[in-house]
Amino acid sequence: MAETMKGLHRTHRCTEVSNKLIDENVTVMGWVQKRRNLGSLIFIDLRDRSGLLQVVFDEPQIGTEGFDKAGELRSEFVIAVEGVVKKREAAINENLKTGDIEIIAKSLRILSEAETPPFPIEEGINTKDELRLKHRYLDLRRPDLQSNLILRSKVCNIVRSFLCDEGFIEIETPILQKSTPEGARDYLVPSRIHPGEFYALPQSPQLFKQLLMCSGFDRYFQIAKCFRDEDLRADRQPEFTQIDMELSFVDMEDVLDVNERLIAKVFKEALNVDVKLPLKRMPWQEAMDRFGSDKPDIRFGMELTDVTDVVKGCGFGVFTGAIENCGSVRGINVSGQGSMSRKKIDKLVEYAKGCGAKGLAYLCVNEDGTYKSSFAKFMKEKELDNLVNAMDGKPGDLLLFAADSNKIVWEVLGSLRCELGKELGLIPEDEFAFLWITDFPLFEYSEEQGRYVAMHHPFTMPYEEDIDYIVSDPGKVRAQAYDIVLNGCELGGGSIRIHREDVQEKMFEALGFTNEEAHDRFGFLLDAFSFGVPPHAGLAYGLDRMIMLMTKADSIRDVIAFPKVKDASCLMTNAPSSVDDTQLEELCLAIKEQ
Ligand code: AMO
Ligand code: AMP
Repeated sequence: MAETMKGLHRTHRCTEVSNKLIDENVTVMGWVQKRRNLGSLIFIDLRDRSGLLQVVFDEPQIGTEGFDKAGELRSEFVIAVEGVVKKREAAINENLKTGDIEIIAKSLRILSEAETPPFPIEEGINTKDELRLKHRYLDLRRPDLQSNLILRSKVCNIVRSFLCDEGFIEIETPILQKSTPEGARDYLVPSRIHPGEFYALPQSPQLFKQLLMCSGFDRYFQIAKCFRDEDLRADRQPEFTQIDMELSFVDMEDVLDVNERLIAKVFKEALNVDVKLPLKRMPWQEAMDRFGSDKPDIRFGMELTDVTDVVKGCGFGVFTGAIENCGSVRGINVSGQGSMSRKKIDKLVEYAKGCGAKGLAYLCVNEDGTYKSSFAKFMKEKELDNLVNAMDGKPGDLLLFAADSNKIVWEVLGSLRCELGKELGLIPEDEFAFLWITDFPLFEYSEEQGRYVAMHHPFTMPYEEDIDYIVSDPGKVRAQAYDIVLNGCELGGGSIRIHREDVQEKMFEALGFTNEEAHDRFGFLLDAFSFGVPPHAGLAYGLDRMIMLMTKADSIRDVIAFPKVKDASCLMTNAPSSVDDTQLEELCLAIKEQ
């Protein structure tokens, strides 16, 4: 039967007990990790969030009654033990923080019994993800997950204290918002009081933080929950957390400066990692050309080479066809992999196709200088030599080429580069490589919508000298936007905002909004601006991504207490779920037959 806490007080967490407390009385509480019986002794590994501690029940010392109770203990029972700290006589465990001591128990209370858990609460065991997530509360007992969440809490504290010291004010913005679709899909919440009308959950606090600047708060921050109904990946969840900020009367240098100092402080205090400032910067165009990505992992090379000019007019139709269609031909040199098996190369081709390529052309430079290639037969020897030279191909190298629109070529080679970097062990795992990407295009053309859409959002300020092209040549306009990238992952992003009415009007025109549509969606913001708006700018980090990278977790799920799976459901609570008809009726909603 479960006993109570009456008269009991925990004196220490498990790993706070140390050899400085030898011969002292302590009271510890936690979960039974393991029980071992050894003749007249019973050993318990006791676990709490701090770690493990060995407790010994010794028959003559505890008396028969308590000893018998100890004999009944099973994994995950919750117990309280009072005892004396002793130096371990034998079996000193170097791997344990408390490995040189143990507690000789004097009394034991069983606070809760436990069923046998569906999987052992240990690291490095092979349990299906589904089972773990169904019993997330148990999986969260694992030290790895606990330390991830503890680090997350620590980072939030550091961020809060840093930003408060820098004059930022923490303000909450609404969760029930007006739907202003532009970006990801909204999560909608039906209104009971206004049948047929909906709130949207915030994709970010963007518009409200800009309004706060209009109100004169000057520097705002929030650790904010955001919701986006998008396809999930290892670094994406439908609800996630941003470290969100906005500043008035600043230029880009001010924003980057305060953020670099924030990053350095977080990494120093949470991980004892020194981040060298200032962080590197790279314009978007250079990032795409060199790495095929706007979030390049700069911890290794294998950069892209544009060979469009080299292969122009060659005999290989795949190359010349792409060039005629205004595309390009680019390659990567997978150094030293020229003897890769055909089977492995075929796998790379399949991978490239998965990224949208129509194919992947390859050329191996043999040790004797001859070539083995999927397209050599279409090209003259001289043309091949020029191509290999342009790629800096040496005997033993594998050259891979993609020919298509720039967008696809970048996507394919950028992804392939990262995949090969991982596979070939080229990435120094311990490094934290930060990088600002700047000078993004303001717009990108959406084939789907047949119009230009804002690459960041419609309130991003273009470069002064590009303003004249907003309507006439949108593709040419560069944004005063910046992303912060860490190890190939987009950690955060932001921009200088438009605070000039004339520029905002041009922006809406280019996006294809009529004045009326713009006012319908964003009228409150435009109105606010008409009453005096300071120049302002901001940035938001994905907190979950930051913690994922700091802990080197494989998935964002490992740093979120109760995450969703790929189809956006929660395996533990079975959300989303259908609701009672009465609830639907109250909302004047009916479910359409599928
Ligand atoms: P953005 O859309 O770039 O900018 O988002 C900022 C950062 O939030 C993180 N993030 C996500 N993390 C987990 N799951 C997701 N589904 C997800 N989506 C985004 C990323 C990203 O860099 N309001 C602007 C910021 C600004 O301009 O100030 C914004 O939301 O790490
Ligand atoms: P094919 O003539 O279609 O058999 O293609 C010859 C080689 O070119 C094969 O290795 C294909 O994988 C490759 N290939 C086809 N399309 C492309 C492309 N768009 N970019 C690069 N290589 C391609």
